[in-house]
Amino acid sequence: MKISVYDTKEQIGAEVAKIIADLIKRKPDCVLGLATGASPIPAYKALIEMYKKGEISFKDVTTFNLDEYCQIPRSDKNSYFTFMHEELFDHIDIKEENVNFLDGTAQDAAQECKRYDALIDKKGGIDLQVLGIGNNAHIGFNEPTERFSSGSYKTKLSNSTIEANKMYFQNGEMPHYALTMGVSGICKSKAIVLIATGEKKAQAVYNMIKKDITPHVPASILQRHDKTAVFLDKAAASLL
Ligand code: F6R
Repeated sequence: MKISVYDTKEQIGAEVAKIIADLIKRKPDCVLGLATGASPIPAYKALIEMYKKGEISFKDVTTFNLDEYCQIPRSDKNSYFTFMHEELFDHIDIKEENVNFLDGTAQDAAQECKRYDALIDKKGGIDLQVLGIGNNAHIGFNEPTERFSSGSYKTKLSNSTIEANKMYFQNGEMPHYALTMGVSGICKSKAIVLIATGEKKAQAVYNMIKKDITPHVPASILQRHDKTAVFLDKAAASLL
């Protein structure tokens, strides 16, 4: 893993956006794996600025998001589908048909997960996956558990994740289940950038980088992925 520490989340956003923009310039029809949450927002903002200045175009880019809640429709204001449109897709020239999400409302979750993984393979795999990390070191919604997951699957969210995200659900209860790409699926990405900011992430970041690889610290698997770049602010890096 390559670890870089910055002063501000805006600096991290600019660096990550540059990596993504360089990839798009090199390979205009690249496949991006994207995350929701607070961590990638500065990078998405920087990408929107680059697009507005005419430096990059997303017209041939394909995206796959990491995860989506079950029990709420895409149109819900708290769906990750809505989040990604508000934070990125509505402001750039990506084609809607190239934007991919797991369907959290699918009747047959296993079938939906198979469809998603097969589609990623059909597109040639993910060139660059953007990740955040949970306070409990989850990646996607792969929570600490006994065994690393492989393909996409339906998962029960941990209490820690529900606690961290329930503030977004002011008018209703937060879903307790989600569909997520699995750990092996994430690790098949050709390159990975993981962003962590704030002191709440410091222990998870320490465990990811310094502890043994274990499914109890899902992000620790990234130690085995030789094209992983980790972007931290000083608070998230404070225990290293
Ligand atoms: C989001 C996702 C999660 C988040 C993580 C960190 O699609 O898969 O793993 O990346 O929970 O969230 P933030 O960035 O809000 O701290």
